[in-house]
Amino acid sequence: MPYIEELKDLIKAVEKTRPERLARKKRGEEFPRMSLDEAEDILKKYHPDYKEEGRRELKVGPNKGYRIAHEFADLLEAGSRANPDSIGLSRVDMETDILIIGGGGAGTAAAMLAEQNGARIILATKLRHGDANTMMAEGGIQAATKTEKDSPCVHYLDTVGGGHFKNEPELAQTLVAEAPDAIRWLENLGVMFAKFPDGRLHSMHGGGTSRKRMHFCGDITGAEIMRTIRDEARNRENITVLEFSPAIELILNEHGHCAGAILYNLETEEYLVVKARATIMATGGCGRLHVQGFMTTNHYGATADGIVLGYRAGVNLKLLHTVQYHPTGAVYPEQVEGLLITEKFRGAGANIVNIDGEQFVNEREPRDVETAAIIRECLERGKGVPTPTGKLGVWLDSPMVDVLMEEGAVEREFPGKFIMYRRFGIDIAREPMLVYPTLHYQNGGLEYNARGETSIPGLFIAGEVSGGVHGENRLMGNSLLDVVVFGRIAGESAAGYARDKAKDGRLSLQHVKDYNQELEKSGIVTDRVAPMLLPDYANPEVRERQLTAHHVGK
Ligand code: FUM
Repeated sequence: MPYIEELKDLIKAVEKTRPERLARKKRGEEFPRMSLDEAEDILKKYHPDYKEEGRRELKVGPNKGYRIAHEFADLLEAGSRANPDSIGLSRVDMETDILIIGGGGAGTAAAMLAEQNGARIILATKLRHGDANTMMAEGGIQAATKTEKDSPCVHYLDTVGGGHFKNEPELAQTLVAEAPDAIRWLENLGVMFAKFPDGRLHSMHGGGTSRKRMHFCGDITGAEIMRTIRDEARNRENITVLEFSPAIELILNEHGHCAGAILYNLETEEYLVVKARATIMATGGCGRLHVQGFMTTNHYGATADGIVLGYRAGVNLKLLHTVQYHPTGAVYPEQVEGLLITEKFRGAGANIVNIDGEQFVNEREPRDVETAAIIRECLERGKGVPTPTGKLGVWLDSPMVDVLMEEGAVEREFPGKFIMYRRFGIDIAREPMLVYPTLHYQNGGLEYNARGETSIPGLFIAGEVSGGVHGENRLMGNSLLDVVVFGRIAGESAAGYARDKAKDGRLSLQHVKDYNQELEKSGIVTDRVAPMLLPDYANPEVRERQLTAHHVGK
């Protein structure tokens, strides 16, 4: 629905301060960036990751004692969907060289590289092939392709600075070093990046970047990448795709090596035993857990399934105590609450302003700092804009982009959001958007190395399910890069392993039995089961959390 009269009135304050804010921009005067001390202070006070009551200690598994969000702990302290005593592993339904669990960007890139390296692949995906966070990524993919002013080294410094220097150096180094090649690979497959008339790639800034290295396809970069690699993968003979078939448990063998997984067909409700010489987990993130009651940008299947499967099998967690809240999720109209409003708007110069039209934060702070500043403005300083449903937001002043770039730039550069808002009668080239932080990304995950290997021989991982490369806070554009770089690496490594190292042996779910015993010993009595597979919005408890979190005064 269009802005109601009360909000239209409030927009006048934004319009009133816009000329002066634009004039400052044109003079090259930036709103001051926070010092390291200020950033640390605001994070501690306002960022949800730093709320001690938002986490608790895990009682079981390899990271017993580690404090993570209740929503993750609940899943890791839940029972299996498979009864290890009654599922017969003597009947193998399908056998392959490589089983890939997850049909987003990482799983699909892995499938292509594994196939090129001579493997037969089954790619099992929970929903349709491409129903994934990759498809929903908007703003771009980082790579130091322009060597006059940039280099992988500068990209590395930005990445680890944004990650609070907690990134695994070997992983971050691989990410940035492989980035230019990842862009070339995508271009050769047909991804249509924005370019100048002479064929050079366009690039922009993102939060926390010191160089313009964000390559993009309008504001639908993820959809363009996913479309291209999915088409390519579907045309390869040795890649079989099973849709609506999430994994519910990994299978190990008598040597303790990963040997496939149990899939659950969502349509027929049948279980399928898939035996594989190597397995790649690329199950994506966790937005649908709505950590601390936040809205989310994530797709419907983002329920942290891979974390549950990997942890039960014995893989360590890494940096899972942090999740990312994107500073700008739509908070009006209600139908699109939580949806991503790309950071590219801020990269193009749009300010964030409060109810009085005042700028209160530089629009290019790293995401966690920007998020904390918005929460402080709304909840502490009382400068948020109330929505008709009782939530709060701040304005993202998109009309500035047309003035700073040229008339028509908003429609041309942000077609996805321009069309979405137009459906509700809002012209974002003329009216600002109302936004609030929204759960966006799982910064941490399962531990792995730069070859995509986990501590379990035969189990590889790639993409958002993994933890370490982004430290405690991922920079914009490093997730599309992550899925391409580490998807390709996992595909290649797994193919080599399947060919040269895999060791056959009796299939087993002993790890599930052991985990169940540990739950029992820790006194955990619960009827929760995991992986969750799909969010349960019909459950009154879940609905209540969603409806009450982050309302005025909370
Ligand atoms: O703001 C964005 O477009 C998000 C990009 C990302 O998370 O990498």
